[in-house]
Amino acid sequence: MKKWARLRYSPCMPMGSDGRRITGCGAHRQLSREAAAEGMVLLKNNGGLLPFKDGRRIAVFGKAQYDYVKGGGGSGDVIVDHVTNIYDGLKIKESEGKIGVYDGLIDFYKAEIDKQYAEGKLPGMTTEPKIPEELLSKAASYTDTALITICRYSGEDWDRKGDPQDGDFYLSAEEEEMIADVLGKFKNIAVVINAGAQTDSEWFHSDDRISAALLAWQGGMEGGLATADVLCGDVTPSGKLVDTFAKRFVDYPSSESFAESDDYVKYYEDIYVGYRYFETVPGAAEKVNYPFGFGLSYTTFDISDVKAELDGDNIRVCASVTNTGNTDGKETVQVYYSAPQGVLGKPSRELASFKKTDTLKPGETRKVYMSFPVSLMASYDDTGKIQMSAYILEKGRYSFHVGNSVRNTVKADFEYVLDENTVTEQLTQQSAPSKLEKRMRADGTFEEMPSYKNNTERIAPAPINAEPPKEAAALIDVYEGKVSLDSFIKQLSDDELAGILYGQPNTGVANTSGMGNLEKYGIPNVMTADGPAGFRTAPSVDVTTTAFPCATALACTWNPDTVYKIGAAGAAEVKENNIGIWLTPAMNIHRNPLCGRNFEYFSEDPIIAGKMAAAKVRGIQSLHIAASAKHFCANNKEVNRYESDSIVSERALREIYLKGFEICVKEAQPWTIMSSYNIVNGTRASENYDLLTNVLRNEWGFEGMITTDWWNHAEEYKEHLAGNDIKMPVGDHESVMAALKDGKITRTDLEVCAKRLLQMIMKLD
Ligand code: BGC
Repeated sequence: MKKWARLRYSPCMPMGSDGRRITGCGAHRQLSREAAAEGMVLLKNNGGLLPFKDGRRIAVFGKAQYDYVKGGGGSGDVIVDHVTNIYDGLKIKESEGKIGVYDGLIDFYKAEIDKQYAEGKLPGMTTEPKIPEELLSKAASYTDTALITICRYSGEDWDRKGDPQDGDFYLSAEEEEMIADVLGKFKNIAVVINAGAQTDSEWFHSDDRISAALLAWQGGMEGGLATADVLCGDVTPSGKLVDTFAKRFVDYPSSESFAESDDYVKYYEDIYVGYRYFETVPGAAEKVNYPFGFGLSYTTFDISDVKAELDGDNIRVCASVTNTGNTDGKETVQVYYSAPQGVLGKPSRELASFKKTDTLKPGETRKVYMSFPVSLMASYDDTGKIQMSAYILEKGRYSFHVGNSVRNTVKADFEYVLDENTVTEQLTQQSAPSKLEKRMRADGTFEEMPSYKNNTERIAPAPINAEPPKEAAALIDVYEGKVSLDSFIKQLSDDELAGILYGQPNTGVANTSGMGNLEKYGIPNVMTADGPAGFRTAPSVDVTTTAFPCATALACTWNPDTVYKIGAAGAAEVKENNIGIWLTPAMNIHRNPLCGRNFEYFSEDPIIAGKMAAAKVRGIQSLHIAASAKHFCANNKEVNRYESDSIVSERALREIYLKGFEICVKEAQPWTIMSSYNIVNGTRASENYDLLTNVLRNEWGFEGMITTDWWNHAEEYKEHLAGNDIKMPVGDHESVMAALKDGKITRTDLEVCAKRLLQMIMKLD
């Protein structure tokens, strides 16, 4: 097929090797199901209640068995032709003779929930109905084993609620009543949580009457089936938490400041996010129900022979993993380092590397090898305590802890010892806060913060020196090496140049607009489409696709290969439908459980976020589809996201909120990055020269193109000055032309943006 044929002519040619469409195909649904099962985290399994097997009879309670939430809402939603819910998944297991499912409850739940759907409620936003006493008794005479299901939904542009009476992070009163009813009648009780982010775990953690709990996440369109796969032991759980589950919402260090104001968020907890807080600050460890990295299996593992050594500039770690139980299973080995507390202060543990085994049979041992650069352990000095704006390895002893959660580790014999403070990288101050009065220290007290000037001086880009081609050239001529890109750009009038720096009309099956679209010069209108859980089509066009598990579930697989495969499968669907840019991965940090879009994001930890994002980007771009890592950066709350100022120290920015993007850029070079709506330390992210040009491009070597988020509130010409190449989904052409006329922006400024846009388009196919 000719270059860009799909993008230009929309021929809708199926990509299956058998000539069929692959969009929403069985193989992709199977991949979705397997990934969902792999990401589920078994939190509790007293007495080995799970897996249900040998025909065990169960009664399933809770509307979530029917009201299954495949993923969150907004641009992260996916239009599918069906969703397999938990009840249907379990009935399939029953038909295979594995379990017996009490049938008397489902009609009740269906009727109650369908009524609420008809009233306009969304899946997961319905109210738990009161179970009639008679049904409860009938179920109890069928079996003594109950499965309680609970679901949660959230979406873009709104945040979740954390008050105990609100029934979001916590149980609703109606759910509490349902659980009390079940606890009163059944002896063996397991729980399934179908949610996209942390919810309260205390009610099952602290109650001995509840034997088992499976965190099944929002598992995509086959999530109910995947849940049944794990509950019935067809899949041994191997997911591990990528977020700390604290006892109460208020235990998270960011809970107080999360909703303090609609206008700003002050990141007082600084680098002590998630386990970096809970494992470090005195008294915080007791507030945890389930630590970072934790997850049970149906088998047991032993991690032994832990060795660490210095190998050039890297720390190399190896360990042996033995399956010591009776069932096949996979284990994830995690390496944490512990740096000296020093002058700058450090979390007591930080994830450095991890490796998941393949399936090990009972008794089988596998050796795993991991490695990470010594420089990963450096801290950024943003106040000049040792050396201003430098990454520093403080003198002292660095130890290494290897295990299967942040808490269950073995210390390696080897320590990395430094006699002197060592600068690993000298940078310059970027996007420092002027309005952050204080930030947390490792002992939980706060230090006062200076007020910094927010931004550095902009340096105008070097002019593009070239002559226009003698005859009008098309973009394909550049691709074929007949004309240079610089020369190609010179033939565009100012109006044409500015005209390709904003979104273009929708074509085809998606609704997020295109980029390019200058037919006169053969620039195709490359369509974009969302999103993190799968390729999102416009609901009206009736093209359904595969909904994969939510990003948090994918991260809990701790398996970059799985995430790569999902990237490639989703990109194939995107490509088959003639779209060129897939607006994923989303990779903001789970700063607080209430962020309405946490389900779209990976983790509270930037190493996990960065590695998973990089894997997805590699998968996507292996098909010559552009990935768009988003939302850059510090977009950790939804309420008033267009105008909210994220006020955060430069250290926390660099070590937590930028770190995942840095890993993704350095490991996978996404062809596009999406700047976020919010303001960062006083300057809109999309107008932020410090972040977009100095950090992203100059420090990290990002080679791609930057797009705004959709319909943001920034001024287009200021965005181009900052290095934000394209404004989506529409621009403000008149004001850019006026700014050009008034000398506020130059033709060179526009040319460099256009060049990056066209370079990106030329990579597509
Ligand atoms: C979201 C982006 C999304 C875009 C296009 C915005 O509202 O924040 O993540 O890609 O819309 O749908």
